[in-house]
Amino acid sequence: MTIEIVPAHLAVQAMRDNGYKNAAYALAELMDNSIQAGATQVELLCAEREIIDQRRRMRIDEIAVLDNGSGMNADVLKKALQFGNGTHLTADQQTGMGRFGMGLPSASISQCKRVDVWSWQNGDRSALHTYLDLDKITSQEQRGIPEPAPQDIPDIWRKVGTSWGKTGTLVVWSKIDRAMWRTAQAIITNSEFIIGRMYRKFIVDGTVSIRLASFNIDQPRVITKEQWAKPNDPSYLMAHTSCPAPFDATPMFDKWDIEWQPEILFEGKKHTVTVRFSLAKKDARKDSSTGEPGRLAHSVRCCLRSLHYNMFCRLKVPCIMTHLRAVSYRVVWWRLNRV
Ligand SMILES: Nc1ncnc2c1ncn2[C@@H]1O[C@H](COP(=O)(O)OP(=O)(O)OP(=O)(O)O)[C@@H](O)[C@H]1O
Ligand SMILES: [Mg+2]
Repeated sequence: MTIEIVPAHLAVQAMRDNGYKNAAYALAELMDNSIQAGATQVELLCAEREIIDQRRRMRIDEIAVLDNGSGMNADVLKKALQFGNGTHLTADQQTGMGRFGMGLPSASISQCKRVDVWSWQNGDRSALHTYLDLDKITSQEQRGIPEPAPQDIPDIWRKVGTSWGKTGTLVVWSKIDRAMWRTAQAIITNSEFIIGRMYRKFIVDGTVSIRLASFNIDQPRVITKEQWAKPNDPSYLMAHTSCPAPFDATPMFDKWDIEWQPEILFEGKKHTVTVRFSLAKKDARKDSSTGEPGRLAHSVRCCLRSLHYNMFCRLKVPCIMTHLRAVSYRVVWWRLNRV
């Protein structure tokens, strides 16, 4: 008797440890899909529930990502939840971030035991729905991706979301059992940091706006927190970023006019990596209370140490480090950014 090559009810458990560092990176995977589907508005919606043990506290209960992208028809929606399937598998389809057909299901199961997807291409009142439920897969009650069927979008998301329209997608995580953060506040703050960095160029040029909101699942009309993701520029050259004041309005660093283009060998092919540098402005180097070099100096020194190991040693380009050391170890307020 032959047996399945991959027994789904056993494999899904192992597949949960798939390397997503935390919920912010997993949520960014859903946003990749939204942005690739042409969304101009993406929303991260965090539903909290009141828990009463020794004291009352709010705990994350469900998380949704809503977008106004192209939406999916039944055929694509079914593939979207299949591991290793999607619409960007071949080289000619790889025009954006999607590649492997793994992002949506893998990121979701790394954080929760159930993912529901609603998607619509003819108004949000005509959404199609399907889901993955790990408890049901493990007990072998769910053996495949259910055929997408018309199903109303639950009221709570209708009340809290704002990006409704002709086309779009809503992904909802429930039975969240592996998220590192327990509150909406922590999920929003940490996600803004990662999302603001990953999509900074899209946010700055106005391609997409990302709303981050939280609410009590029992009172979905009351939004408890609402903000729009600000760009987070690792080179500190952008204005209007999530940097603390006074460098939220103006850039904290200046461009440093050196460009370094090492060649690296990756999967048998040579690639040129362009590395650009930036240098902290004089004011940013000082501790605001003492006028002496502040925490920034310390953090950049640490950063230099890890860079030396991670980039310079691995890329085996010690000469540039020697050069930089001469130029900048005494004046350590610099950043570099691979582009
Ligand atoms: N928000 C969305 N809007 C429209 N289509 C989507 C959305 N999310 C997923 N899809 C569709 O589902 C497919 C599977 O998504 P998934 O993230 O699993 O893989 P991928 O994006 O193709 O590749 P990768 O594994 O690199 O993320 C996508 O190829 C896309 O066709
Ligand atoms: Mg993807």
